[in-house]
Amino acid sequence: MEFGDEVASHLQSFAREEAHKHSNPGSSGNVTKIQNIFIDGIEITKYVSEFWTSKQRQASSIHEISYRACFKPQLPRFFIELLSNEDDTIYDPFSGRGTTVVEAGLLGRKIFSNDVNPLSEILTRSRFVPPVIGDVAERLSLISIDKGLVPEMDLSIFFHEKTLSEILSIRKHLCGRKDSGDEDDIDRWIAMVATNRLTGHSSGFFSVYTLPPNQAVSLESQKKINEVRGQTPEYRNTKEIILRKTNSLLRNLTLGQKANLKVAGRSGLFINQNAAYTPEIGSNSVQLTVTSPPFLNIVQYSKDNWLRWWFNSLDGDKISKHITMAKTVEQWSTVMGSVFNELYRVTKPKGWVAFEVGEIRNRTVNLDEHVVPLGHSAGFECHGILVNFQEFTKTANIWGIRNMKSGTNTNRIVMFQKPN
Ligand SMILES: C[S@@+](CC[C@H](N)C(=O)[O-])C[C@H]1O[C@@H](n2cnc3c(N)ncnc32)[C@H](O)[C@@H]1O
Repeated sequence: MEFGDEVASHLQSFAREEAHKHSNPGSSGNVTKIQNIFIDGIEITKYVSEFWTSKQRQASSIHEISYRACFKPQLPRFFIELLSNEDDTIYDPFSGRGTTVVEAGLLGRKIFSNDVNPLSEILTRSRFVPPVIGDVAERLSLISIDKGLVPEMDLSIFFHEKTLSEILSIRKHLCGRKDSGDEDDIDRWIAMVATNRLTGHSSGFFSVYTLPPNQAVSLESQKKINEVRGQTPEYRNTKEIILRKTNSLLRNLTLGQKANLKVAGRSGLFINQNAAYTPEIGSNSVQLTVTSPPFLNIVQYSKDNWLRWWFNSLDGDKISKHITMAKTVEQWSTVMGSVFNELYRVTKPKGWVAFEVGEIRNRTVNLDEHVVPLGHSAGFECHGILVNFQEFTKTANIWGIRNMKSGTNTNRIVMFQKPN
C-alpha cells in the first residue's frame, strides 16, 4: 500500500475511534463525518473529527508566547507525528510565534522557519536555547536603569514613569549588544520575554490593563480604556516579571526536550522573507511543511505589532508593506499560488504539506476548497481535507485562537503530497 493510502486509512479509522470516544447521547457531541466532495472535477475526501483536543497530552510550557492567529501546538504535533520521522526537516513559511518549528524541535526534528515579520525570529529563535534562570538573573542585574532616557513617543498612557525607565534601559542594553555584535543567547532570551510582557491585561505585564499581549492598541484607544476604567499605570518591576515568565516558560521542559531544541536550533534556518521566495532553502530538502497563512485582511498585524516593533528597533512601516493583506479571495489565491510553487520546490519527493486555514467571514468563504487547486497547479497531490472541530472548552478559550464564535474552534487543513 502507498504511504498516502496508509495515511488515508489511518485518518478514517482514527476519525471513527474518536467519534466513538466522544459520542455522548443527548449532547451535540463530536459527530465524525467522512465526506467526498468534488473540487475542479477532482474527488477530495473531507475528514471531520476532533483529531486533537485541549485534554490531550499537554503542550510544552515553552510554547506559551502569545501571537495573533497562532495555532495550538497539538495541531503541528498531529502532522509531525503522522508524516515525519526523527531528523526529518519540518518547515513553516508563515511561522508567526514558531509553533510548528518549536514543536518539531521538541520532537527531535530539524527545522526551517520563515516569516516576513522579523518579530517571528525574535520570538522563536531564543526558545531553541532555553537558558538557566540564574544566567538570566545575572544578565538583568548588569543592566543599570537610566532615568534620563526619553522615548520617541509618549508612552505614559501604557507605563508608569519608573517602569518606562526600566523598559528603555533594557531596550538600550539589547540594542547596544546587537550593534556591537556582542548579542548572545541570553540577550535574545531577554528580548523575547520582554517583547512578550510589554502589554497585557494583568500585573504579569509591564503595562496598565489593556488588550491581551498579542494586540497593542493605539495610544488614542489606550487613553480611552484608561478613562473608562478610571486607571493610571502602576509601577511594575520589569526584571522580576521577566524572571517570573522565564521560570514559567521553562517549567515543564525536560532535559531531553532541551537537548532536542538545542540540536534543532543549531542546524535550523531562521529567515525573514516573502514565503514565495526562499532561496536559502535547498530544493527537495523538506519532509513536511505545517503552516497557516495570513487570511485575507482579517488580522491587522501592523496594528497589533507596533509596540513590539518599537521595542526591538524594527521599522514597522517597512515590514507592514511586505505582510500579505489580500482583500479578496482572488488576490489571496494569486499570492498563495506562488507560495505553493516555492513549497513544491523545497519539498522532498513523497514529502508533505499540511496547509491550515480557519473559517472566515462567518463561514461564507471556504478557503480550504480554494487551496486545493492551488496545490494541484503547483504539482502536489491532495490527500484530503482534515477538519478539526472542537467544542469550546474553558482552556481552549485563550487568546490567539481564531473562530471563537458559537462555542466552537475549527481548523481546516488541506493535506498535499509531492509525487515521486
Ligand atoms: C496566521 S499567522 C501564522 C501563525 C503561526 N501558525 C503561529 O502559530 O504562530 C500568519 C503569519 O504570516 C506572516 N506573513 C504574512 N505575509 C507573509 C508573506 N508574504 N511571507 C511570509 N510570511 C508572511 C505574518 O507575519 C504572520 O506571522
